[in-house]
Amino acid sequence: MPKKLTDRLYLAAIAVAVVVGVVGWMQWFDDDHAHSDGAAATLTIPALSADAAAGQALFEENCIACHGKHATGTEQGPPLVHRIYEPNHHGDVSFLRAVLYGVRAHHWRFGDMAPVGGVSQEDVAKITRYVRELQRANGIE
Ligand code: HEC
Repeated sequence: MPKKLTDRLYLAAIAVAVVVGVVGWMQWFDDDHAHSDGAAATLTIPALSADAAAGQALFEENCIACHGKHATGTEQGPPLVHRIYEPNHHGDVSFLRAVLYGVRAHHWRFGDMAPVGGVSQEDVAKITRYVRELQRANGIE
């Protein structure tokens, strides 16, 4: 009899351990998601240079539908204030190329980006400046 009791306690201990483990994992999983959602909520908006401010207006006209407010992404396109697009990985020319020729989906699952018409090379430089200033203010350099 006493042996059975210890067996039961042993099983109960294992059950508790499993529950604690699963709950912990779920919380970790939630946290992970909260972070990617929270990134937009805690985005730092810096004081913009004149070029970047002009870039913001151009961005809001031409890019916001997919790349979202302050380039934090939407259901249609990725955030550009994201480590993937840090200057060393996606130099400024990749912005110009994206606008002129479009982008073949390769980092995400949103599909391809079509070329964006009616945006001059100077406009793209300003938009890029805007995104770079947002990136820098948020530790992406
Ligand atoms: C119709 C939706 C849409 C619009 C509008 C749009 N984009 Fe995109 N863009 C995308 C998608 C989707 C991707 C991601 C493709 C991938 O890598 O999977 C992307 C990727 C990019 C990239 C990354 C390029 C690379 O080399 O990986 C840049 C830079 C970019 N867009 C800039 C812009 C700018 C600037 C504008 C506005 C002038 C703009 N986009 C407008 C959908 C859009």
